[in-house]
Amino acid sequence: MTNPLVIFAPSGKRGRFPVGTPVLAAARQLGVDLDSVCGGRGICSKCQVSPALGEFPKFGVTVAEDALSPWNAVEARNEKRGLKPGRRLGCQATIQSDVVIDVPPESQVHRQVVRKAASERTIEMDPATRRFFVAIAEPDMHNPSGDLQRLRDALRESWGIANLNVPLSVLTRLQSTLRAGDWQVTCTVFQPHDGQPHLLDVEAGFVDTPLLGLAIDLGSTTIAGHLCDLTTGAVLGSAGIMNPQIRFGEDLMSRVSYAMLNPGGAAEMTAVVRQALEALAVEVAADAGATPAAVVETAIVCNPVMHHLLLGIDPVELGQSPFALATSDSVSLAAAKLGLSSIHPEARAYLLPCIAGHVGADAAAVVLSEEPDQQDALTLVIDVGTNAEIVLGNRERVLACSSPTGPAFEGAQISSGQRAAPGAIERVEIDPETKEPRFRVVGCDLWSDDPGFAVATAVSGVTGICGSGIIEAVAEMRMAGLLDASGLIGSAEQTGSARCAPDGRTHSYLLHDGTAEGGPRISVTQGDIRAIQLAKSALYAGARLLMDELGVDTVERIVLAGAFGAHISPKHAMVLGMIPDAPLEAVTSAGNAAGTGARIALLNRASRARIEQTVRRITKVETAIAPRFQDHFVNANALPHATDPFTELAR
Ligand code: FES
Repeated sequence: MTNPLVIFAPSGKRGRFPVGTPVLAAARQLGVDLDSVCGGRGICSKCQVSPALGEFPKFGVTVAEDALSPWNAVEARNEKRGLKPGRRLGCQATIQSDVVIDVPPESQVHRQVVRKAASERTIEMDPATRRFFVAIAEPDMHNPSGDLQRLRDALRESWGIANLNVPLSVLTRLQSTLRAGDWQVTCTVFQPHDGQPHLLDVEAGFVDTPLLGLAIDLGSTTIAGHLCDLTTGAVLGSAGIMNPQIRFGEDLMSRVSYAMLNPGGAAEMTAVVRQALEALAVEVAADAGATPAAVVETAIVCNPVMHHLLLGIDPVELGQSPFALATSDSVSLAAAKLGLSSIHPEARAYLLPCIAGHVGADAAAVVLSEEPDQQDALTLVIDVGTNAEIVLGNRERVLACSSPTGPAFEGAQISSGQRAAPGAIERVEIDPETKEPRFRVVGCDLWSDDPGFAVATAVSGVTGICGSGIIEAVAEMRMAGLLDASGLIGSAEQTGSARCAPDGRTHSYLLHDGTAEGGPRISVTQGDIRAIQLAKSALYAGARLLMDELGVDTVERIVLAGAFGAHISPKHAMVLGMIPDAPLEAVTSAGNAAGTGARIALLNRASRARIEQTVRRITKVETAIAPRFQDHFVNANALPHATDPFTELAR
C-alpha cells in the first residue's frame, strides 16, 4: 500500500509519509515553515495546523489529544489550550490518510507582517533572537560532563545550534535554573546572520512570555523608538523624544565642531545620547505595558555623526575632507555597551552599515525599506531631515548622497516655526482671487474657516507653523501671486492683499492674527521664504547631482520619506521646485522609511546580510566637493527653478 500523500498549504510542498508520522516531522522533512519552540513536546502551541481538505476525524491520531475521543471532546480540550476550532498541534497530530494541511500565518516562523507604511509592503519574520525549549540529560557520575556541556548537546541535537557563546551571567545561574526546571529549560538564543550564536538567557521550564525588540531611528533632532514583538512582528508601541545633543549644536556640523573645540566634548555628547536611548527604551516599554527587561534586541539607524557619537567614536574625521568613517560596516555588540541598562542584560544591538562619511545607516535603512535597488523603474528616494539623504537608482545601479538642507523643513529658523505639535499650522490654502488664507492645525480636523474651528482649537490655540505648513504656505503664496519667481514677497499694492505688510525693508504675509484670542500673530516673513529657498535648493541640487552622475534628465518614481515627507503634498513640493519634475502620480510618500528599515533589520536577519551587500555596491557622491552642486544650488534658488523646465506643473 502506498503511503498517504501530504500536501502543505500555502507552500504547496508535498510528500508521502508512513501512517503515524507526526505532521511536524513531515513538515521538517519537506522544509515547510512550521514553528515550534518546545521541539514537539506538545507544550508551546506554536505548531498549530488545520486540515484544509480531508475528513477531520481522519486527520490526526494524537497522543496528547487522544483521537479515540469523540471529536467534540477533542475540540473542547483544544479550546482550553488556546487552539482555534479545527486546529491541531502539528507535533501531536499524525498522518493517517491523504490530506492537505493548512499552515496558518501565526504558525509560520517566517510569517509576513504588513507594514504600517503607506506602501503596505510586508516584512518576512526571521528574527535573529528566538526561544528554544530543551530537555537535557540529568548529571551522571559515570559520565561526568558539565551541565553546560549537556545543555549545548541538547541545543545542538534538538535545534541544530552549535558553537554557542555563553556569557558568564548565564553560566552563573545555569545550575540552579536547570534544577528548578527539572532539567527542562527555555533558552533565548541570538543567532546572527554572520557569526556565532549567543545564549542570552536560560529560564526554568517552558516560558512563553513576549520576546521584544526595539527599532531605533536616532536622528539629530528627534529619536524615535518602535517596540516590536519578535514573534509576531507587531508594533506594540512607539515613542519619540528630542535628541538632547541639540544643546551642543542644532546641526551635525556644529556638533562635530563642538567635539573639535572642546576636550571631552565628544564624550559628553556620547553620554547624553546614551542616556536618551535608555530613557526612550523605558518609556516605550512602559507605554506598551511591557517590562524593559523583555527587550532582547535592538536595531539602530542613524547618520554617521550620530553613529560615531553613540559608539563613543570621536566624529572629528567626519568634519573634514575626506570625511572618513571609523567603520562603514554594520556593528553588532552587546546593547549594555551603549548604556542600555534597563533592557535585558545580555540584549544585543545591531547598527546598520553606513554608506559614506555623510550618508549613514539611516540612508541604508531607507534603501532597505524602499528597495530602489530591486526596481526596474528609476527611483529617487528623498529622506528629508536636517540633512536630506538622497538615493537614486534601480536594479542596475544605485547612487547616494546627502545634502545639507538645514532644519528649516522641520520648522526651525522660521519666524513662527515650531515642531509639528497640537496648535501648529500644518496645511495652508490661499485663495488665488481674494488672497485670503485658510489653514488647519495639528490635532484638529477642521479648517480655520469652518464653523467650530475656534471651539475645536480652544485648548491648544494656534501656536505656530510647522515644516509642512511653511512649505504649503510658501507654495500657495507663489501660486496666488503673492511671491515672484525670485521669492520676493510683493507689497499690498503689488499683490492686492492688505495682508502683505511692510516688515523692515521687505514685506511679510499675515497668515493668522491670533492676538485677540491671546495667541501669536503668525506671518510668513521674507526671512522665512529665504530659509525655505536655501533648504529646497540644497535638496534639489543633491537630486540633480545624482541624476547628472547617472546621465539622466528625468526619474520615473519619486518617494518622499521621513516623518516630514509623509506630510508634504507632491504638488506643493513641485511648485517650490523641491523635487525634480515628474508626473504628480509618480510621487509617493513612504512615511518614516528609516524607522521602517530599522524595523525590517530587527525582524528579519536575512535583511541584514542583504543591506550589507547592497551598501557595498552603492556609489557615493560627495556633494561638498562636486563643482556642479553649487551651480545646481544657485539655479534652484528660483521658484521653481531658473532653468530646468517644470512641465508637469502646467498640465
Ligand atoms: Fe510545541 Fe507542538 S511544537 S506544541
